[in-house]
Amino acid sequence: MAAGKGRQRHGQERPAVTMQVHVRPGDARRTLRAEVLEGLCVEGRPKELSPKWLYDERGSQLFDDITRLPEYYPTRREREILREHARDIARACAAHTLVELGSGSSEKTRLLLDALREEGGLERFIPFDVSESFLRQSAEAVARDYPGLHVHAVVGDFERHLGRWPREGRLLVAFLGGTIGNLKPPERARFYARLAEGMEPGDGLLVGTDLLKSRSRLFAAYNDRAGVTAAFNRNVLRVLNHELQADFDPEAFEHLAPFDEENQWVEMRLVSTRAQAVRLPALERFVNFAEGEVLRTEVSCKFHPAQVQEELAAAGLERVGYWTDAAGDFALSLALKR
Ligand code: SAH
Ligand code: AVI
Repeated sequence: MAAGKGRQRHGQERPAVTMQVHVRPGDARRTLRAEVLEGLCVEGRPKELSPKWLYDERGSQLFDDITRLPEYYPTRREREILREHARDIARACAAHTLVELGSGSSEKTRLLLDALREEGGLERFIPFDVSESFLRQSAEAVARDYPGLHVHAVVGDFERHLGRWPREGRLLVAFLGGTIGNLKPPERARFYARLAEGMEPGDGLLVGTDLLKSRSRLFAAYNDRAGVTAAFNRNVLRVLNHELQADFDPEAFEHLAPFDEENQWVEMRLVSTRAQAVRLPALERFVNFAEGEVLRTEVSCKFHPAQVQEELAAAGLERVGYWTDAAGDFALSLALKR
């Protein structure tokens, strides 16, 4: 654990943020190599990578740009719900510690922080994210704007390091943005079960889920006209080039994000525009793409309201609150460990 406290070079006071790092750059590179061998290099198997590799510093910034696109409604809808109901949420869970998984910019989270402070008990904020530099900046911004709040940032993978944060007082875990939908159903069940295992009775989970809606709106949200989502998707190839010295030409792959009716998810694809062999020197091999071959980089599940409740209940988490925006596009569920 490294202390991120102190003074910047030009004498400006840096806000007091402590950092705990479970994923160091070397570990991340080793994990990436193993996942690329499994996900890209097995002959005959559909190619796939975990969405977590989308989020280097540039990818995190591109996601932030996506949240401001006219077609991308989830962020605006979730903010609308929080504006309306953050006080109800704060009252129902009365948390002393707020952990935020996949925290990104923590921008909407401020509504929750405000409400939890007004309700009286909040002492500590723990943003948890795999993207270290973006996390550090966001955590410092929160510390600057919330004097007296202890901000402890955790660099970790929420599929591997759940519960590895300091425990003190009643806990609320927030998982906003619909990021839960980036886990497939079996991964989601494992995630909820592990999270619940580490919670005490009375601790809460606030989870944001994107709801099923017209296919044309879903298509527009993930295939925006300005091409920001395409740049976000292709960014993973730059990550592979940087981390594995690969020679992907991002322009030789097209972005496409269709809705999969069978699985009820939007899936982000990179489609090879030609037959090509890409060098992966760090793995001492080539990866071959046929023309039109797909690399899946993310799934984004869309939910029925009842489905969210059932999945939470299966992990021993009882839903005690459910809120949507006025258009019924997005939902927040508050569940308590019994
Ligand atoms: N919660 C924010 C950001 C959502 S973007 C919002 O609602 O706007 C998804 C975030 O999850 C990114 O910041 C990304 O770095 C993080 N993330 C993705 N996979 C992760 C993983 N396996 N473990 C931890 N963080 C992850
Ligand atoms: C972070 N996550 C919830 C986003 C989503 O909508 O699934 C990531 C994203 N992918 C494409 N656009 C946004």
